[in-house]
Amino acid sequence: MTRRSKDKELRLTRRAILGGAAAAAAASTFPAPFVLAQPAKIKLGLMLPYSGTYAALGNNIADALILAINEKGGKLGGREVQYVKLDDESEPAKGAQNANKLVVGEKVDILIGTVHSGVAAAMVQVVREEGTPLLIPNAGVGDATGKLCAPNIFRTSFSNWQPGYPMGKVAAEMGHKNAVSITWKYAAGEESVQGFKDGFATGGGKVTHDLRVPFPDVEFQALLTEIASIKPDCVYTFFAGGGAVKFVKDYDAAGLKKSIPLYGPGFLTDGTLKAQGASAEGLLTTLHYVEDLKNPVNDKFKTAFQKATSRPVDVYAVQGYDTGQVLVHGLAAVKGDVKAKKEFYAAMKSFKVPSPRGEWTFSKSQNPVQDFYLRKVVNGENRYQKVAVKALAEPTAACKMA
Ligand code: PHB
Repeated sequence: MTRRSKDKELRLTRRAILGGAAAAAAASTFPAPFVLAQPAKIKLGLMLPYSGTYAALGNNIADALILAINEKGGKLGGREVQYVKLDDESEPAKGAQNANKLVVGEKVDILIGTVHSGVAAAMVQVVREEGTPLLIPNAGVGDATGKLCAPNIFRTSFSNWQPGYPMGKVAAEMGHKNAVSITWKYAAGEESVQGFKDGFATGGGKVTHDLRVPFPDVEFQALLTEIASIKPDCVYTFFAGGGAVKFVKDYDAAGLKKSIPLYGPGFLTDGTLKAQGASAEGLLTTLHYVEDLKNPVNDKFKTAFQKATSRPVDVYAVQGYDTGQVLVHGLAAVKGDVKAKKEFYAAMKSFKVPSPRGEWTFSKSQNPVQDFYLRKVVNGENRYQKVAVKALAEPTAACKMA
């Protein structure tokens, strides 16, 4: 949009808020401050991947966030909402520049994003300098709620360590002693594998080989051949989106699925099952959500999201929805006054989030404390097996926030 057409849009919006001719008369009769006292829209920056391997994830987050706000009348703290979307392309090198476009350029009141840990790390740096509230609806980069935690940074999803840890515990409980890890070489993969290693170690398990491909490459052949020759008890993998589809199919096509169990955080089979087909059947994963969880919030959410988007829910949609719920709650507490930061943050932090994943709370580092479920792919769907670890918090020692 050009600057001129944007100015025009803002003018039109203001007149629409005031209401037609009477408002126009008021605007010319009363001094400017009277007019400006009308509540302006709250500007939300939605910095997410709308293209590339994580595009489906970004779209589900955005659509479910808007759904949560629309369910409460489409307003936040009584103010209308203006969404400013920016495609971050899951490109860490452009992360700071893109975040600045929204925070400094667009002057968004609140920044939401993103999916990719490397891009999120850049967003964290920007909001630590600018003081803008940031809600992270997916990216699990540990530092965001660890070493770089801050009062204005909230995460509504998970830390990368979290979904890996229960999978390691379950793998050990199943009697596996050694494993190979294979993932993209960036924070999400490395930290997810660390979670698995810590969980696996509780039962004496050890990861003997760490295999890596650069993000977002999907050339797995050479590494699958290596796995076949190592013959580990099991394989742990982090891939998501388009990469997860390709990896699960290639693992099966290489003949490994029959002989070496494949485990991962549930991102491996979330939003991907249709494309993975029979190759995903029987896979075990751990995650903080599974579609068939029995609770009224989940039932209602599944129907509403499907109706709004014609797509089935997945963990990304749930995280977007919860981000919307947290915003609705936090801004209601300050009647839409985003400048009342102390009260706004306190309201969000103490919120018990009534989520489709089951109720969860924020830890002191402002990351979810939540249950992790063991899931199994049966007839093309993720099915609940059991709670793998209850009320799991990420290790919070690195966060020095009061
Ligand atoms: C991440 O980069 O933190 C990330 C991306 C996709 C996922 C999970 C984590 O599904």
